[in-house]
Amino acid sequence: MNVVILAAGQGKRMRSDLPKVLHSLAGKALLGHVIDTARELGAERICVVYGHGGEQVREALDAPDLSWAKQEPQLGTGHAVLQAMPATVACPRSGIPGTQSESAPTESSTLVLYGDVPLTRLATLKRLIEAAGDGALALLTAHLDDPHGYGRIVRVAGKVTRIVEEKDADDAERAVNEINTGILVAPTAALARWLPTLGNRNAQGEYYLTDIVALAVAEGMPVVTAHPDAAWETEGVNSKLQLAALERVHQRNVANALMEAGVTLADPERIDVRGELVCGRDVSIDVNCVFEGRVVLGDGVRIKANCVLEDAVVGAGSVVGPFARLRPGTELGRDVHVGNFVEVKNSSIADHSKANHLAYLGDATIGSRVNVGAGAITCNYDGANKFRTVIEDDVFIGSDTQLVAPVTVGRGATLGAGTTLTRDAPPDQLTVSRAKQVSVPGWKRPVKKKKD
Ligand code: UD1
Ligand code: CA
Repeated sequence: MNVVILAAGQGKRMRSDLPKVLHSLAGKALLGHVIDTARELGAERICVVYGHGGEQVREALDAPDLSWAKQEPQLGTGHAVLQAMPATVACPRSGIPGTQSESAPTESSTLVLYGDVPLTRLATLKRLIEAAGDGALALLTAHLDDPHGYGRIVRVAGKVTRIVEEKDADDAERAVNEINTGILVAPTAALARWLPTLGNRNAQGEYYLTDIVALAVAEGMPVVTAHPDAAWETEGVNSKLQLAALERVHQRNVANALMEAGVTLADPERIDVRGELVCGRDVSIDVNCVFEGRVVLGDGVRIKANCVLEDAVVGAGSVVGPFARLRPGTELGRDVHVGNFVEVKNSSIADHSKANHLAYLGDATIGSRVNVGAGAITCNYDGANKFRTVIEDDVFIGSDTQLVAPVTVGRGATLGAGTTLTRDAPPDQLTVSRAKQVSVPGWKRPVKKKKD
């Protein structure tokens, strides 16, 4: 199976310097979603047809399993797929070299996807591929109440005979509400034969990929259709409005999947997952939380309102938030509490430890049953380099302390409130660095001078 992804369009309506297919949905480029879908299908070859701003697109997403075909100028979807043909394989790989399989090798096929249509589901594409079987042309079509702007599927006695573009259609054809989503599967060899013969004598002067339908019919090749389950699966992004609309669709899908897996969401409309969120049993997530990268939440974890978690692991029974920020490299053990306005970065906090208020814990290794007081800060950066702070088990860190890394607080130690720790604190002792408290008897508060 070859996959050709069309991504040469300019996307003027985005009103942006960034090429359209690089705009992100759920933290990933639109084209990245389509490429990943192609990978999940197990495509043998994936070729992206690029054009406008192409080098930037290629640099952003290039990978060893991708090939790139430049389309310049852009003369239509048929011309676009033609550019990708040299990168496709007409015959599928035949297992071990030199051996002949029992059954005749199935013909290679090519799936065409659009780089700006990010949410097509795997199940839908598998249905389309299945419909194509061995050697048919399969079109993904949909019935829309308002088919305006789309190519229409023309049928005679129920059989597809051709696709006509809106601008080339007559009144009867425009009344058809079965539309071409643009996604199709064709036998690769037939595609290679048809594409160079396409003409551009149509209303837009373009080489239409859709004209292959009439060519297939003329050859007696079966033309079949399959349909997506939901309209958003084949919706494209042409504007920031459409981007935001699809982002909401995607987030709602993610929220639904989480709830189906047993996660409690205070409000499925107020969670944003921009990556992968893995949850154990009985996890609950309050409103306005953002998850980025890969986040793992153990059994019974509670995430309170307004938290941001990125590439973090939270152990079973832990409580995070409200208003907490877990940055990349955070690992919380079991029954850890990270409270309001606490930021943790590249740090591990072991079982039963607590940092409940107003703290910055960066590049730190924190043991078990540690209490981090309000306002504690690891000073991990000297303006040039970063250093680690080690806090061993059963330590009590008083409020408003600064731990100037590299520094170690020994097991069972206590740091008095307000301490600026610049050398290691020995185990089991109280270490305090603040000046001794004095009271001045007879001291008088200054009073304002009387004006003359
Ligand atoms: C195309 C289909 C139409 C279908 C519609 C679905 C054709 C002739 N028409 O219409 O039947 O209903 O999609 O949205 O195929 N692209 C290139 N190079 C080009 C032209 C387009 O890479 O030269 C890419 C675009 O970036 C886009 C996709 O192909 O991702 C579709 O292009 P677009 O201009 O939106 O197609 P339409 O003409 O609207
Ligand atoms: Ca279009």
